[in-house]
Amino acid sequence: MRRIAFWSPKGGVGKTTLALNFAAAVYYSGKSVLVCDLDPQQSAVDVFNEKRLPFSVVPNQPQVIPNVDFLLFDYAPSIKDIPTVETIILPMRASILDLKAVNRSHRLVREKRVIRCINAVDTRRHDERVMAMKLYSEGAHLIKDRSIYVRSLALGETVFQQNMYGSRDAQNEFKRLLARVEAGND
Ligand SMILES: Nc1ncnc2c1ncn2[C@@H]1O[C@H](COP(=O)(O)OP(=O)(O)O)[C@@H](O)[C@H]1O
Ligand SMILES: [Mg+2]
Repeated sequence: MRRIAFWSPKGGVGKTTLALNFAAAVYYSGKSVLVCDLDPQQSAVDVFNEKRLPFSVVPNQPQVIPNVDFLLFDYAPSIKDIPTVETIILPMRASILDLKAVNRSHRLVREKRVIRCINAVDTRRHDERVMAMKLYSEGAHLIKDRSIYVRSLALGETVFQQNMYGSRDAQNEFKRLLARVEAGND
């Protein structure tokens, strides 16, 4: 079983969006997955309650760990609650303030495998594009700013359940992230 934390001390950077779409990438690759919503705001549970997700979300860490291929943890934004699992997906925005915050928080998870995801990148903005490409060249994963991410979650779904403009590209962003996690060589 692979355990993956979607964690960042910052709020609103995409932890829940990434956790749910990553879970869908796992599910549609034919593997089993469970999302544990560790945020008291319970946004992932709210999406699940729409009853359209093909996988389950539970409202906290289960007492008995089910036998699944992937166990995902959607964290609350906090530096007090540090993931114990080995792999952390750390979403951030392509901004200097996020980069500074992430560099500071990196120390808290030094021994872990941390995959930085530059999320909601707007490639039309020059500064954002330059920073995203720099971080990409340093090994970060890029996820673009797409309305399909907002729209699908509002419908209680993931981009894997959509068939409109941009959904295929969005799915590929998560398939690539899953392939990278499975390859396990960073
Ligand atoms: N790649 C993206 N493109 C467009 N909007 C996004 C993207 N990722 C997240 N969002 C939006 O940003 C907001 C915050 O995302 P969320 O996943 O709730 O962050 P967190 O869980 O870190 O607080 C939400 O409104 C979400 O729809
Ligand atoms: Mg969240």
